[in-house]
Amino acid sequence: MPRATTAGGPDVALLPATPDGWLPHALAHFDQVLVDHAHCEKKAAANALSLLQSYPDVPGLPAHMARLAREESAHLAKVLQLMEKRGLVLGFDKGDPYAQGLQALLRKGAKERRVDRFLVAALIEARSCERLALLAQGLVKTDPALARFYEELATSEHGHQRLFVRLALEVEPKDVVGARLAELAQAEAALVRSLPVRAAVH
Ligand SMILES: [Fe+2]
Ligand SMILES: [Fe+2]
Repeated sequence: MPRATTAGGPDVALLPATPDGWLPHALAHFDQVLVDHAHCEKKAAANALSLLQSYPDVPGLPAHMARLAREESAHLAKVLQLMEKRGLVLGFDKGDPYAQGLQALLRKGAKERRVDRFLVAALIEARSCERLALLAQGLVKTDPALARFYEELATSEHGHQRLFVRLALEVEPKDVVGARLAELAQAEAALVRSLPVRAAVH
């Protein structure tokens, strides 16, 4: 299982917050989780292009975000394929309280907002990595092929969290990034704990 934290590189100290009840609930309502997952991948692809639009002057960002948008779109296409096999349709995005709660953490000033957008994206990737890896574990006995798919996605999201921390370090000094990341990680974990268990990735 990919770990949420590793030594030897920029990484996110994700705090434990996922309730024990989440995995059994997600497995019992897996169709709903799949639809939510598709929306998550769509939002990740859209956010990559939005960051490219907002910060083309950050070194390396345009190429990284172009690749990320492509990768997240590929995840979306695979999830849509799984949905089609199950007769599920995407429908409109009803919005999710996790994304909305994190959005509220972004500070107002341009400089502060920029680093916050990178770090919040890193935390979303880290939490996604954790949840997808849990799904992989939960599915391994009943559907090994699907479990492998989720394992691959978790590994991919793990790489993305590191990318976003690297981008934060392009725009702010290490101590500033570290302090803000610690604050946001606390807030993210508090948000997760405050939400009811949902048949959703977050
Ligand atoms: Fe993804
Ligand atoms: Fe991702």
